[in-house]
Amino acid sequence: MTGDDPLEEPELEEPTTGEPATDGGERSSSTLRSDGGAAGADDVALDPWGSSSVSDYRKLFEEFGIEEFDDILDEVPNPHYLMRRGVIFGHRDYHPVAEALQNDEPAAVLSGFMPTGDPHIGHKLVFDEIIWHQEQGADAYGLIADLEANAARGMSWEEIDEHARDYLLSLLALGFDPEEGTLYRQSENRELQDLAFELGADANFSEFQAIYGFDGETDVSHMQSVVTQMADILYPQLEEPKPTVIPVGPDQDPHVRLARDLAERMRFFKVSEAYASFELEDDERAVVADFYDRLEPADFDDDTLRCVHVAEAIEETPLSDLAVGADVLDSVLTKLREAGMEPVRPRTRFFDRRATEDAFDALIEAVDGEKRVYENHVDAFDLERGEAEELAREVEVDHGGYGFRPPSSIYHRFMTGLTGGKMSSSIPASHISLLDDPEKGYDKVKAASTGGRETAEEHREKGGKADECPVYELYAYLLASDDDEFAKRVYDECTSGERLCGDCKEQAAQLMREFLEDHQEKREEVEQLLEDSEIELESPRRR
Ligand code: TRP
Repeated sequence: MTGDDPLEEPELEEPTTGEPATDGGERSSSTLRSDGGAAGADDVALDPWGSSSVSDYRKLFEEFGIEEFDDILDEVPNPHYLMRRGVIFGHRDYHPVAEALQNDEPAAVLSGFMPTGDPHIGHKLVFDEIIWHQEQGADAYGLIADLEANAARGMSWEEIDEHARDYLLSLLALGFDPEEGTLYRQSENRELQDLAFELGADANFSEFQAIYGFDGETDVSHMQSVVTQMADILYPQLEEPKPTVIPVGPDQDPHVRLARDLAERMRFFKVSEAYASFELEDDERAVVADFYDRLEPADFDDDTLRCVHVAEAIEETPLSDLAVGADVLDSVLTKLREAGMEPVRPRTRFFDRRATEDAFDALIEAVDGEKRVYENHVDAFDLERGEAEELAREVEVDHGGYGFRPPSSIYHRFMTGLTGGKMSSSIPASHISLLDDPEKGYDKVKAASTGGRETAEEHREKGGKADECPVYELYAYLLASDDDEFAKRVYDECTSGERLCGDCKEQAAQLMREFLEDHQEKREEVEQLLEDSEIELESPRRR
């Protein structure tokens, strides 16, 4: 469920009708599991409404193509401590966002919150991520996913209003600037709903079935909340396309991938590389590219490399020297032979996916240098791929299209429960709500389990297991705030055996109490700011 919600544990909540079965996270067709759903606790399942624990983050890189955040850290200006400490561990395509921030170019950040309970220290990660991007100059959006809470969780509008207010107060208290940024609730945003409807025309049930495990029992509103989230993710680009980052938990990755796909499907033109007039699939193109590099035009009549030549060269090459399947070879050979004497020449192709006639004509007009026009595509011989992408977007936007850039995402780790195991909003002792009485917060930390050894003697000798300690996590994720030196000192003192759990917890508990006192004071201070902001605090749907 909630990506921004490392604490939720939906299998302990009442399932709503029509939701795909989530018994213990064991879903068959739906889950994006590495092992087809056969194995037990060590699985990785990315399920927006299912179990949100990840036991092996490496699998997310290997199985789902999430990239390691560390690899891009150098490109990020003033990285947030959550980035520096590896709490934000992964991303999809964050590069354009980092670049935009670096160059003071337009960028956006958006995340959404299902108002199903109290905001807690897990949500704070996402609040901080939004606020940090806003401080770096991005247009910032925070939304209340009230349609989703109503459809997928069966929350009443009264409950939704109450929780929404609490989320928003915490977001503002932590530093979100509502005058610079945008806050909205899904149910009150007509533009958003129109976009959702439009996107829905490009998605179908089979796809939802494959991605989310929806079935014949899934209610339609739940499906509608998916297209609404797709619209949320693209909403910052309604006025103009810009790099946009969606900070969430990794369970929301299926949504991010679908949104990236839909963004692409909405585009007027598809830009690709081609070698002759006909279309090639990606793996076919790789074969042709390979032979194009190997073959010398000078070896052929009139110094021209032609499609038949490439076909012949492929046929003379032993299959074992080609890293492709027989079916790919078959189809690429057929295409090359059919094209016969047509010369092989690399080019950049604009394929007309859904452009208006005017837009297609304008594109043809706008292509500089040598070009060739076909019924459904234009080939440009003097345009680099990157320039071509820019041009395609420009023409699209000029002719009423959105020109969406595929949205990027960053993923943070789920927090460990204070009592060990998962942090879960349904187990109060396992998490700390941002509304918890500061004394209660103090007590919860004092009662937390730790990575300490059996006895003080053993602890001094072997050192504590900070990497497995929920209390150390509190320091790293929250209590040490921006002070890396402090976080590192706690870590080093713990693992060297100098720092004993009793004192360490006492310090953490005090810091937690201070944090909660301070945060709650700020929440009161921003009440007026919230009243003055645009967002509707009371749903007209209330009865
Ligand atoms: N589905 C998200 C959750 O379960 C909430 C959400 C709605 C969201 N729209 C979004 C998150 C857009 C990120 C971006 O919490």
